[in-house]
Amino acid sequence: MNISGISIRKLAEKYGTPLYVYDFKKIRYNAQRLKATFKSDGVNVDFYYAMKANCHPEILKIFIEEGYGMDCVSPGELQLALFAGVKAGHILYTGNYESPVDLQAAYNAGAKINLDDISSLDRLLKVGKPELITYRINPGKGRGKYEQITTGGDKAKFGVPYEKAVIAYKNAMDAGITRFGAHMMTGSGVLDEDHFPYMLELFMNELGEIKKELGINFEFIDMGGGFGIPYFGDDKTLDVETVAKETMKVFQQKVKELDLGNPTLALEPGRFLVGDAGLMISRVTGIKKGYRTFVGIDAGFNTLIRSALYGAQHPIVVDGKEDLETSMIVDICGQICENTDIFTKDRAMPETEEGDLLVFTQAGAYGSVMAMPYNLRYRPAEVAIANGEAKLITRRETFDDYISRFQTL
Ligand code: LLP
Repeated sequence: MNISGISIRKLAEKYGTPLYVYDFKKIRYNAQRLKATFKSDGVNVDFYYAMKANCHPEILKIFIEEGYGMDCVSPGELQLALFAGVKAGHILYTGNYESPVDLQAAYNAGAKINLDDISSLDRLLKVGKPELITYRINPGKGRGKYEQITTGGDKAKFGVPYEKAVIAYKNAMDAGITRFGAHMMTGSGVLDEDHFPYMLELFMNELGEIKKELGINFEFIDMGGGFGIPYFGDDKTLDVETVAKETMKVFQQKVKELDLGNPTLALEPGRFLVGDAGLMISRVTGIKKGYRTFVGIDAGFNTLIRSALYGAQHPIVVDGKEDLETSMIVDICGQICENTDIFTKDRAMPETEEGDLLVFTQAGAYGSVMAMPYNLRYRPAEVAIANGEAKLITRRETFDDYISRFQTL
């Protein structure tokens, strides 16, 4: 198996496993393609990359070069976005139960601040009064690939419930804030095209009510991220052209019908831009034929937590055996001392042996960024394939990295 013409086996030999590898050309292609897809004469679209999906500074630089702003969710992300070179005016800060420290960081950076609750405003005003704010509104509905990544609706911890949105904006107006945006992010990993125009219509109807009550002309309407990619089984490819066409149609219609002024449509995709551009290589360390057959590998939930956290299934390829028939049904697990350290159960695999390389594809988003050194298995290295060559962009974490934070008593 290759990634962008470079052999997986050679990468594993040179850099060790577990290892994340990214195709930088693909990331740039994804960035350009999404922008081209949402190009329209009638709608101005602003793109913010949700850097939580993968915040390696070399990846951030690609998005900055392609004209993306950054969607940041913590002071650390803000700092890294600025370090990578994004202009402060092109940062959207979406907190959650924002602390004064968080708000101070966002205010100091000059980011557009997207408040998560009606109560957040008082905390912000103690820090400073920006000209513009946004509220993250929970429109009362949401949808995600898993319940755990459904970020809208009455079970989600995010956003101002729509019923309180008018008061939230009114409070901000009373405080002397004069410019406004509106934001929602209702779920991640969505593969249904209809969901996006449906949610946007619902949201814009709600914004129409707010406009009627308060006379606000929203400068931008942010419909969040959420574009899914196919992972495994019945997953299909999201037809993003249809999503773009239909959402922009709704956007234009609703702006006119509800007299919403001249807002920009903002998007903050993460997964869709980097997910299919990365893979994770691991090596089989042991095969146990016990009550069940286990293929144990040197990556675990410490390396890629999505399966343990959400039951997410990645495609898993045995390097060099892509064309072989499947001949065994196995559970694939890591080495962590937890019974949840399982990537998949009852997966049909070709004859797999100790030493084989297992490649988890579609691992560019929410992979390395969620890795941790639990059990003191250090965080993996990362390699970029750029200009036809492999280059180490993150060295493997070491004992020295780990111990450097400890102080003696
Ligand atoms: N904007 C906000 C405010 C968000 O909370 C998120 C994701 C995004 C944008 C980007 O969503 P995307 O386009 O990537 O779907 N760790 C999970 C995904 C959690 C997403 C949380 N918020 C996973 O591995 O599937």
